[in-house]
Amino acid sequence: MDYFNYKKGILHVENLSIESLASSIETPFYCYSSSSMQKNYNELSSTLHGLNASIFFAIKANSNLAIIKLFSDLGAGADVVSEGEIIRALKVGIPNKKIIFSGVGKTKREIAFALDKDILQINIESESELELINQTASELYKKANVAFRVNPDIEVNTHEKITTGKKENKFGIPWPDAREIFIKASKMNNINVIGLAIHIGSQLLDLDPLEKAFKIAMQATNELLDLGINIKNIDLGGGLGVNYVNETPPKFTEYAEIIKKNIDYKNINIFIEPGRRLVADAGILVTKVIHRKNNGAKNFLIVDAAMNDLLRPTLYDAIHKIQPIQEKKFINKKLFDIVGPICESGDILAKDIALGEILPDEILSINTAGAYGAVMSSNYNSRLLIPEVLVHDEDFSIIRKRPTYDEMLKSENLAKWQSL
Ligand SMILES: Cc1ncc(COP(=O)(O)O)c(C=O)c1O
Repeated sequence: MDYFNYKKGILHVENLSIESLASSIETPFYCYSSSSMQKNYNELSSTLHGLNASIFFAIKANSNLAIIKLFSDLGAGADVVSEGEIIRALKVGIPNKKIIFSGVGKTKREIAFALDKDILQINIESESELELINQTASELYKKANVAFRVNPDIEVNTHEKITTGKKENKFGIPWPDAREIFIKASKMNNINVIGLAIHIGSQLLDLDPLEKAFKIAMQATNELLDLGINIKNIDLGGGLGVNYVNETPPKFTEYAEIIKKNIDYKNINIFIEPGRRLVADAGILVTKVIHRKNNGAKNFLIVDAAMNDLLRPTLYDAIHKIQPIQEKKFINKKLFDIVGPICESGDILAKDIALGEILPDEILSINTAGAYGAVMSSNYNSRLLIPEVLVHDEDFSIIRKRPTYDEMLKSENLAKWQSL
């Protein structure tokens, strides 16, 4: 986490003290470093130089408008998975021809919206979806530009809930079947087949499975080209892992190398859809200790953030490093569970972490929380969504404000037969 460092004993984001930030914004809140995101993007982009490659930020990882705009200004397109995400991308000025629509369950309404906006490419994940797109395009007198997502049936070493390239996962179409569907699609009146896509999972730390998938994608593309199907784009998905605790993520240069080795980049456009790798280590969740408690078996620090703010530990058993905002040299360390106020035993942000003396009102940073953090938050237990703050050098901007309770309740009403 390059842009998160202690200066004079206080954790800073870029040149802004988190202590001072937390004195003006009530905790909990997400805090992002714009320089860190820019650095991640620029490093990736420069290693892809010469490969005929375009980056489509997978906005599901962090879809705050300011974050999408930051990547758009750097030249990224958007990989989206819903009508809402298309709306977000367009709202911050991402050109329609830089939007790819992925996802396994696009509705007719979403397809019609994408066709109306004339986006770059819709990645199809089933024969049934192909039929629906052809039908919808015909009703709108349009021709849909599509790719098919091939499921390469590859084992990856990541959490089972973020593995997407095995046959038993719901994603994509296995290869021999996909070939038949490509052929069928190429004869349809309202379909223009332009690409092939893969995405085998997220938080990948080993490049071997990705390389296998790239080989399969290239072989499949060659077969299709031989059949006269004009594949112009290979979409290699996202998936690059990050360092949460002690992981060693693949280097961008190694990633670029396996693309170069396996994909015919001179004749085909390469699309990549990174999410986590661009934003995870550029964000933290800032939270305050409310209480300390020992129930005989365990020490707990009860903090003001909870699983509704950061679901990853509960959903994926994810481990995030946690550190106090005031630098400390802990002498007598004890194991703590860091838990939120939600009425669920699963509301755990960190399990058995070794910390020293931490008192109520101390502020902690939950690290590497910039991806799949704020986007997965909810109002569970009627807790308000928390703010997101973007830092640039010494300056900051609140890019999602904490709503009021009235705002939280405004879309609800009593049933017409009820009264107060
Ligand atoms: C189709 C597709 N592309 C890209 C991504 C982004 O993956 P990551 O955040 O691991 O880079 C995902 C994540 O689920 C995805 O489903």
